[in-house]
Amino acid sequence: MLNRFAVILAAGQGTRMKSHLYKVLHPVCGKPMVQHVVDQIELVQADKIVTVIGHGADLVKSQLGDKIDYVLQEKQLGTGHAVMQAEEQLGKQDGTTLVVCGDTPLITAETIEALIKQHEEEHAKVTLLTAHAEDPSGYGRVLRNDDGTVAKVVEHKDATDKERLVKEINTGTYCFDNKTLFQALKRVNNNNVQGEYYLPDVIEIVKNNAETVAAYQTPSFEETIGVNDRVALSEAERIMKSRINTAHMKNGVTLIDPKQTYIGADVQIGQDTVIKPGTVISGSTTIGANCEIGPNVEIINSRIGDNTIIRQSVVSDSGIGEQAVIGPYAHIRPQSELGDNIKVGNFVEVKKSKMGDGSKASHLSYIGDAEIGQDVNLGCGSITVNYDGKNKHLTKVEDGAFIGCNSNLIAPVTVGKNAYVAAGSTITDNVPGEALSIARARQTNKENYVARIQEKQNNHGRKD
Ligand code: UD1
Ligand code: CA
Repeated sequence: MLNRFAVILAAGQGTRMKSHLYKVLHPVCGKPMVQHVVDQIELVQADKIVTVIGHGADLVKSQLGDKIDYVLQEKQLGTGHAVMQAEEQLGKQDGTTLVVCGDTPLITAETIEALIKQHEEEHAKVTLLTAHAEDPSGYGRVLRNDDGTVAKVVEHKDATDKERLVKEINTGTYCFDNKTLFQALKRVNNNNVQGEYYLPDVIEIVKNNAETVAAYQTPSFEETIGVNDRVALSEAERIMKSRINTAHMKNGVTLIDPKQTYIGADVQIGQDTVIKPGTVISGSTTIGANCEIGPNVEIINSRIGDNTIIRQSVVSDSGIGEQAVIGPYAHIRPQSELGDNIKVGNFVEVKKSKMGDGSKASHLSYIGDAEIGQDVNLGCGSITVNYDGKNKHLTKVEDGAFIGCNSNLIAPVTVGKNAYVAAGSTITDNVPGEALSIARARQTNKENYVARIQEKQNNHGRKD
C-alpha cells in the first residue's frame, strides 16, 4: 500500500460562529468537531496526520494531543495556503494525501475509505468527495464537463447565478497524489472575491495539466455538512445524536425515546440497559448491562456497574458498583466511589467519598470527604460535618456501623466497626467499635404541664 498522509485544516477563527471559542473546538455531542475528524482519520490508518493550526493553536493542540503533527498557519490566507504549510513535512514524499476540513465533524472513515478506493481505481491525481445538497448555499459548487468529468470547483461567493443552481457540492474532503498536490498548490493564486488561496483551485490546475481528476459522490450529504455557524452546529448535533443513539440501540440498549436521550460520542453502554427520557450521558462514561437509567438523569465521566438503577439524579466523575439504587434526586459529586448493592436515596449528596458494598444512605444526607465501610446504615438526615470554614476533614464509618437519624458526625472523626450512634447525636469524639454512642441532651418530661400553665394564666387574668 502507498504511504497514506492526512492534512486536517483547523486554523480558522470561525467568524460566522460569533464565538470566543475557536470553531473547530465547538463540541458536537460533547466532542470537539476537529476531534471527531481526527478519530475518523485514525481509523483509516494514515501514516502521518498533520493538522494545520492557527487561531487557538495551543488549545487545539492540547485537545488533540501529541500523537499527531502540527504546522502553524500564521495568517489565514485560505485553504490552499493552509495545506501549503504542510509542505515541509510532506512535500517530498510519495503517497496519497487526504485533506479534510476540521469543521466537517460527521465525516466517517467508511466514506473516506470509499473515496480512497475510487482514487486508486481510477489512478487519479485528485479525487474530490462531492455530495448532492438540496440547499447548496454557501458551499463550493462542482462544475462538470459535458462528458461528466470534473472541470473545477467554484466557491459560492464567486459563482454566477447559473452556477449557483448546481446542487453538487464540494464537501471539502479530498484525496491527492501527494507530490501533485504540492506542485499544483504553488500555482494557486488569490484572484477571487475573498482574496484567498483556495485549495479547490488545485483541481482545475491538475485538470489543465491533462492529469486525471476524479470525483466520488457520497449518497449522504448529511455526513458532509460543514459547520460554519450555530445553525449548522445544531444540525450536526442532531445528526450525530441520532447516529450515536442508533448505534446503541443496534447494540442492544433500549432508548425509550431517542429524541429525548443525549449520549456523548465516547459513552459506552452495556446490553439490555434501558435509558429513559430526559437523560444526558456525557464524557468518558461507561454504563454496564441491565441498568435502568432515567428519567431525567445526568451522568458525566462516570462508571456505572451492571444492574444498577439511577433515577432523576446527577452523577459526575465518580464510580458506582453493580446492583446499586440511586435516587430519585441524589447528587453524586466528583471523586466518589460507591460499591455494589449500595443505596443512595432521595436528597442525598455524596462528595469525594467512598461507600463500601451494601451501605445505605436512603434519605436526606450529606456525605462529604468520608470513608464509609461496608453494610453501613446512614439514617435519615445523617450529616458529615466536613468543613470548619478553612479545611475539609475526613469522616470514617467502619463496616456494619449504624448511624441513627439526624446525627452530625463532626470530622475528623471515626465511628468504629458495628458501632451504633443514637439518633439525634452530635458526634465529636471517635466511637469505639461495637459501642453505642449517645450524644444529645437527656429528655425531661414536665408532668401536668398544661394544667399548671393554665392555672398561671388564670391567676394573671384576675389581677387585671
Ligand atoms: C470550504 C471550501 C468549499 C466547500 C466547503 C465544505 C475552499 C476555498 N472552500 O469552504 O468549496 O464546499 O469548505 O465545507 O476551500 N482553514 C484554515 N486556514 C485558512 C482557511 C480555512 O485552516 O486559511 C480551515 C478552517 O478552519 C476550516 C476549513 O479550513 O476548518 C474550511 O474553511 P472554511 O472557511 O470553513 O471554508 P468554507 O467557506 O466552508
Ligand atoms: Ca466550512
